[in-house]
Amino acid sequence: MVRINLVGLVREFADGTKIGPIDLEIRDGELLTLLGPSGSGKTTTLRLIAGFIEAEKGNLLFDDQDMVGVPPRERNIGMVFQSVALFPNMTVYQNIAFGPELAEWSHEKTVERVEELADLLGIRNLLFRKVSEISGGEAQRVGLARALAKEPALLLLDEPLSALDPQLRERLQTEIIRIQKKVKVTTLYVTHSQDEAFAISDRVAIINDGRIVQVGTPEELYDKPANEFVARFLGSGNVLQGTVEQVNGGELCIDVMGIQLPVVGNRNVGDTVKFSIKPEDIKISPVIEEGAATGSVTSILPQVGSFKITIDFQGTPILALTYDEVLVSKLRQNEDRRVSFTFKPELAVILSD
Ligand SMILES: Nc1ncnc2c1ncn2[C@@H]1O[C@H](COP(=O)(O)OP(=O)(O)OP(=O)(O)O)[C@@H](O)[C@H]1O
Ligand SMILES: [Mg+2]
Repeated sequence: MVRINLVGLVREFADGTKIGPIDLEIRDGELLTLLGPSGSGKTTTLRLIAGFIEAEKGNLLFDDQDMVGVPPRERNIGMVFQSVALFPNMTVYQNIAFGPELAEWSHEKTVERVEELADLLGIRNLLFRKVSEISGGEAQRVGLARALAKEPALLLLDEPLSALDPQLRERLQTEIIRIQKKVKVTTLYVTHSQDEAFAISDRVAIINDGRIVQVGTPEELYDKPANEFVARFLGSGNVLQGTVEQVNGGELCIDVMGIQLPVVGNRNVGDTVKFSIKPEDIKISPVIEEGAATGSVTSILPQVGSFKITIDFQGTPILALTYDEVLVSKLRQNEDRRVSFTFKPELAVILSD
C-alpha cells in the first residue's frame, strides 16, 4: 500500500491544452474515484501518476518519495486501461503471468499467484483459453487479474467497465470493491458515471477543466455540493440564484425572481447568491398559497418506487422527487397544472460561485 500526493501538478500539451494545477491525496488503501466529464483530464492525471508523461510543474509523491524521473516500471503500479489491452494470441494464464515472468518470479510462485487471482475473479476455468476466445466481460476480469499479478502498491483503473452491459458492470463493481478491500491496494478509479463512482468509492474527487473541484465521500458530495458544477453534475441540485433581502439570525431571505425563499446560510443583504436544493427535499402542494413559489407541472415520470416531477418555475425547471401516490394522482387530475413548492431552509446549500 502507498499514499499518493499530487501537489500543484501541471501538464501542458504542445497545443496549449493545460491540465492542472491538480492537488489530490489518495490515502493508503483507499479506493478513490476521479469523476468528471469527457475531456476533463482524468486519463491525463492517471498517465502523470503512472509516469507515461511528466508534469511541467508540481510534485508527485508516493509516500514521501518524489517520483520525478522514476520510470513507470519502477513505480510498482498495476493498470487497467480504458480499453483492455490483452495479448490476444496468448492464453489467459500467459496474460496474467506476463508481469511475474518478466520480473523473473519462480515458476511455482507465478503459478500460485495466477491461480489465486483466477479464483478471486472467478476465471479459473478460462486459464487455458486464448484471449480471442473469451467474452468482453471475462477479458475485463483477466485485465484486472493481470494488473494485480505483481502485487502492486497502487492500482490505476481507467473506465475498466465502460464497455459492459449494466448488469455485468454492476456485478464487476461489487467484485472490484471486494478484491480491492481484500488485497488492500491503494486504488485510483476513473469513470464519468456518477452511479458507478458512488457505488464503489471510499471517496470521490470531482474533476472539471483539468482541476479538482471537490473531494469527499459520496454522501458529502451529494449533500453538500461546493459549487454549481458539482450540484448539476451530480444531479443533486436544483440550482437557483437570487439576492439576499434580509438576514434574520442564521437565515437568509433570498429574492428569486420576485419570490422570497428562506435559506440557512451566512451572507449579507444585497449579496447575489446561488443555492442548490435536492429533488427529494422539494415539497409540492396542489394548494396555491399567497406568496409561495409556484410553477406548472411539465412532466411526471414514474421511477422505481417514486415519481420524478418537473415544475416550470418562471422558465427554470425544478425537479422534485416524491413517493406520495395520492399527491401524484391529484396532480394528474389538476387541469391547470399549477402547484406551489417549498423546502426546509436548512436543507438548501449555499454554493461558492
Ligand atoms: N497528447 C495530447 N496532446 C494534446 N492534448 C491532449 C493530449 N492528451 C490529452 N489531451 C487533451 O487534454 C484534455 C484531457 O484529456 P483526457 O484524456 O485526460 O480526458 P478524460 O477526462 O480522460 O476524458 P474521457 O472521459 O473522454 O476519457 C482533453 O482536452 C484532451 O484533448
Ligand atoms: Mg479518459
